[in-house]
Amino acid sequence: MKLPGAPRSLFSAARLRLGALVALPLLALVGGFWLTACQTSGEGESEADGPSTRISTLFKPLPDEVPELGDGPVAEARVDLGHKLYFEPKLSRSGNVSCNTCHVVGAAGVDHRQVSKGVGDRKGRRNSPTVYNAAFLESQFWDGRAATLEEQAKGPLQAHVEMDMTPEMVVERLRTLGYTSLFEKAFPEADTAVTFNHVADAIAAFERTLITPGAPFDRYLEGNEDALTAQQKAGLKVFTNNGCAGCHRGPMLGGQGYANFSHAKGDADTGREEVTGEKSDRYSFRIASLRNVAETAPYFHDGSARTLREAVSVMGKAQLGRTFNEEEIDKLVAFLNSLTGEFPNVPYPRLPRQPPQPTEGS
Ligand code: HEC
Ligand code: HEC
Repeated sequence: MKLPGAPRSLFSAARLRLGALVALPLLALVGGFWLTACQTSGEGESEADGPSTRISTLFKPLPDEVPELGDGPVAEARVDLGHKLYFEPKLSRSGNVSCNTCHVVGAAGVDHRQVSKGVGDRKGRRNSPTVYNAAFLESQFWDGRAATLEEQAKGPLQAHVEMDMTPEMVVERLRTLGYTSLFEKAFPEADTAVTFNHVADAIAAFERTLITPGAPFDRYLEGNEDALTAQQKAGLKVFTNNGCAGCHRGPMLGGQGYANFSHAKGDADTGREEVTGEKSDRYSFRIASLRNVAETAPYFHDGSARTLREAVSVMGKAQLGRTFNEEEIDKLVAFLNSLTGEFPNVPYPRLPRQPPQPTEGS
């Protein structure tokens, strides 16, 4: 499906290449890799010369479409509406904060701040993760508190430090601005077209177009040995031989499962414990996806690592009890750079603006 009004590049050539034939097997792979990966994490194999069985078991190319996106005119109308809503500043109380304020689609889907700033310049406590490939995450947020993109989208709209709206205000504003006919096209079966749930549904549909297949590492996994430089291959080796892939694996190199992040000890933000109430989840966070990680500084849930080198070094110490030397860090960073995919070119959409209506009796 094509995002209306978007240049073709929004849908990469890779998508056409693979097509629907592989969509099902890919799905099965995404589901099944975890189990297989656990069984075959033997060390010592040479992976510097093309993807060995071990590498192909640990990692998978990023799928080049999101199956839930669907097809046809209704799905297209939904993506088109979600595209507008994503850029709609009137969805915030102050009228000047949109999803794109903190997840800038032209800048890898982040705001490059340590922690985000929302309505009235209120600071949140966490770093803004990228929206790119969020469709492939097992759960949303650093602590995984939302299961789906639909559920996720309702969070920032209502959060005091983000957009600070109520569901009623959202619906009222969108009606006044002239969104009703767009909602009717996107939700033709519904009795009431403009609802808070539909806002979240449309935004989630749009987010499912924000994916970045075709990274050098994907091409390498597909059998193109020259897709990685020698240094990147060496970095891949450091990555797998030191246990990074114990957590960061699969098509997203993370994005599923949680791990204790000892570096966060003593912080007010206790991570997943806030979601589950379990003491054992204190300072646990979702294992971050490393897709496009070279583009999304600063790092960690609190934005505390300014550079990728710093993040890699902290990970070595905190998660593996390992102090990497400069050369190892160079290699790891080179490898992580091979995870930058092809970003779609997302246009700034035209937003509905109904001229003011005459007031009654005038
Ligand atoms: C004020 C800045 C701000 C605004 C506005 C904002 N977000 Fe976020 N977003 C964040 C931060 C910070 C997080 C991480 C919060 C957490 O984990 O507790 C986040 C998390 C997310 C995630 C989860 C990604 C992941 O890796 O888990 C998605 C998806 C997302 N936002 C989409 C949206 C959408 C859609 C909108 C508009 C409806 C939006 N955001 C508005 C700052 C913002
Ligand atoms: C025990 C599991 C585990 C291991 C092993 C591990 N990580 Fe992580 N990694 C995580 C978790 C959890 C986070 C998110 C931490 C947070 O910010 O709360 C993370 C975050 C990161 C980030 C920052 C991502 C971002 O967007 O902010 C990078 C980079 C990273 N890891 C690289 C590595 C490297 C390189 C290694 C090997 C040296 C490694 N990790 C080993 C669990 C792990």
